[in-house]
Amino acid sequence: MSAQGKSVTLRTLSRMKAENSKIAMVTAYDYPSAKLAEAGGADLLLVGDSLGMVVLGYDSTVPVTLEDMVHHTKAVTRGSQRALVVADLPFLTAHLDREEVLKAAGRLMQEGGARAVKVEGCDAVLPGIRACVAAGIPVMGHIGLTPQAVHQLGGYRIQGKDAETARQLLEEARRLEEAGVFALVLECVPDEVASRITHSLSIPTIGIGAGGNCDGQVLVYHDLLQYGSEIQPSFVKPYAQIGEMAVQGIRTYVKEVREGSFPGEEHTFRAPAVMDHLYGGERKKD
Ligand code: KIV
Repeated sequence: MSAQGKSVTLRTLSRMKAENSKIAMVTAYDYPSAKLAEAGGADLLLVGDSLGMVVLGYDSTVPVTLEDMVHHTKAVTRGSQRALVVADLPFLTAHLDREEVLKAAGRLMQEGGARAVKVEGCDAVLPGIRACVAAGIPVMGHIGLTPQAVHQLGGYRIQGKDAETARQLLEEARRLEEAGVFALVLECVPDEVASRITHSLSIPTIGIGAGGNCDGQVLVYHDLLQYGSEIQPSFVKPYAQIGEMAVQGIRTYVKEVREGSFPGEEHTFRAPAVMDHLYGGERKKD
């Protein structure tokens, strides 16, 4: 188990893999979600570019910019003390030349306060990953369903379902480990593929829709809490009904405002001594 109270580091994660102790990652996008996720004991907080969909209302992660990521990463790191905060490099950023990738990752760390970055894909982004690792920036990889490539993949589909694509994923995982990533997200791949990858790597795998044999799991905050997320992927297990509670609370507030029962006496400030000054003689006439 990652020690409560102690900061989670890359060493913690490799120790957890060695001890067969499962790693829990959850996305966070702002100060309150970071505080709550950390209070719930998450080892890693991912400032995922999924914020484009669950926070900003886009229909994919493609429109998310580096500015968006820096802005949200700042808020998350203000709300977290113990968990390792990882921030996504947004669409196309890891494909730029070495200097641009380093500048972008540097901003997420220096301005945002992230302690690692996550990069989607494999071969096309290996030079950028290697540049970051050489510069001392920890990189988490991400293969399988890579949402930034949704338009090329033709939708949010399970990857690696046949022998050839499964073998390709295993090879990609090995190349990413060789390039120095400290952990690897496996998204929407069959359990058999995720297990094989997990057993052949010495770095931890973190699964999402990848079965129970990965070294850890990640879920999107709004999905696991059912907080305003309309699309519910089948691999998500809802652990709370925050959205329903929020609507119920707001409905009651609106009703009480309309009927005039809010604010009641206990939520009202009083200063009887000022009455005469405010109304002067008028009040006496009443
Ligand atoms: O952006 C994100 O939230 C992610 C997770 C789904 C792994 O990349």
